[in-house]
Amino acid sequence: MAGEQEAPGRSFEAGGEAGRGEEGRGEEGNSLEAGHSFEVILETPEGVRKLFCDEDEYLWYAAARAGVKLPAICLQGRCLECAGKLLQGRVDESSADSYFPDDEMAGFVLLCRGRPCSSVRIRTHQSGPMRAHRIAKGLPAPYA
Ligand code: FES
Repeated sequence: MAGEQEAPGRSFEAGGEAGRGEEGRGEEGNSLEAGHSFEVILETPEGVRKLFCDEDEYLWYAAARAGVKLPAICLQGRCLECAGKLLQGRVDESSADSYFPDDEMAGFVLLCRGRPCSSVRIRTHQSGPMRAHRIAKGLPAPYA
């Protein structure tokens, strides 16, 4: 895809999650512990970026580690500044301070407290649409 670029950091292979142990992790002298690392595709205003996120890592931090700067205020899953729209895959938002079933049904995720449960594709910079969604549902919409 035009404009698609791989974020610096780990090597990337299309087609899903990296394996455990010796298969997808720990190569090139990394001292990574066993665990899944999922492929993450971010559709940002600057283009599409690809990176990996560990299953126990928040997406916002994985993006930052890969050099992808995303908006944030609270980093606790409350302010909605880091909101994204989940286009593919599953994200665990159980650590977010404020996340509602309606948010999930509408496809919104909070990248600062979202952990991947699969390979994911996410459109970033969705704070405006997520705040509008919250207002429409009568839910908290900080900074709206
Ligand atoms: S930075 Fe506030 S909800 Fe993510």
